[in-house]
Amino acid sequence: MKAVIYDKKHSPFRLCLKEVDKPVLNDNEVLIKVVSVSLNAADYRSIKMGSIPPKKIFGSAVSGTIESVGKNVKHFKPADEVVGDLSDFGFGGLAEFVVAPERAFAHKQPNTSFEDAATLPVAATTALKALRDKGNIQKGQHVLIVGSAGGVGAHALQLAKYFGAKVTAVCSTKNIEQTTSLGADKVIDYTKNDFTKGSIRYDLILAINGNYPLLGYRRILKPKGTCVIIGGALAQIFKSIFFGWLLSFGGKKMKTLAAKSDPEDLEYVAKLLDKGNVKAVIHKRYPLNQAAEAMDYLSKGHSPGKVIINIQEKNNEYTRTPKLH
Ligand SMILES: NC(=O)c1ccc[n+]([C@@H]2O[C@H](COP(=O)([O-])OP(=O)(O)OC[C@H]3O[C@@H](n4cnc5c(N)ncnc54)[C@H](OP(=O)(O)O)[C@@H]3O)[C@@H](O)[C@H]2O)c1
Repeated sequence: MKAVIYDKKHSPFRLCLKEVDKPVLNDNEVLIKVVSVSLNAADYRSIKMGSIPPKKIFGSAVSGTIESVGKNVKHFKPADEVVGDLSDFGFGGLAEFVVAPERAFAHKQPNTSFEDAATLPVAATTALKALRDKGNIQKGQHVLIVGSAGGVGAHALQLAKYFGAKVTAVCSTKNIEQTTSLGADKVIDYTKNDFTKGSIRYDLILAINGNYPLLGYRRILKPKGTCVIIGGALAQIFKSIFFGWLLSFGGKKMKTLAAKSDPEDLEYVAKLLDKGNVKAVIHKRYPLNQAAEAMDYLSKGHSPGKVIINIQEKNNEYTRTPKLH
């Protein structure tokens, strides 16, 4: 099969398209013919940090069709259309086929496209975990979404509205229109205003992107408010892990999220997408042979929406000339 393999000799991102053996199924696994993959920060950050999956194939947010199932598999059968999060199961999505335990997958809704379905694993499920589980979001609360234009942020904004919150969203000038069209009640342009110094207080803050002072976040929480730090610059993540808990006192809570693959959450967001409660926001599409360029683009940190790799396309030929370091 064709797969995009990590190989130190290639650039950009040490990725190149190669012919490799089709994976072999064990009794607890399903074999998927991958149709679409959405890239996530975990893909390019793992490459940058040298954390390489066992089969050297990245890609965790996949949609596709079941080719075959192991004899212990209970919930799926051949030809089922699925969506899956492989981030806890060795990645492997940037390939024509992948095997993973059945608990990595949920059924794709029949009227949802494979591309739209592939936007959900990691991005939408992380937003759901942050709002519902860490943030305990309640109807009528005032929620601040910092980084509303990216993969996690666009889902978080729409899910917060679905849960009945009033949402203020933070993005740059070029993404104000998109953020407004996704339902934000108010948009703050972070290139013009420092929201951490404003007078408005929030019940719940989702810190998804950027690098802002933790004390600034704490300052704009209501007395019993919660701030969930999800991501952003590495400095933001380290500050949150090492110092966030120190700032959880006096009723205000500073929490850090480390989301795990969860098929029930995946099914939950897949149904919301199917019913039109949330929309997939896709910014760019690439064929498999341009996965490295797609990764390079996403890693710049300013994609307004998801970057999709379509695996099952006729133009996945070995056209890219590898550049040696
Ligand atoms: N904790 C977890 O379990 C977990 C799970 C998944 C992802 N994450 C993390 O969550 C973060 C976001 O992931 P993602 O998939 O949404 O990334 P993404 O799609 O690449 O996010 C890109 C967006 O970030 C926005 N952005 C960049 N700088 C910003 C700033 N200073 N302030 C506000 N927005 C800014 C950009 O909007 P503008 O162009 O308007 O700036 C762009 O639209 C990453 O750091 C990722 O590692 C964490």
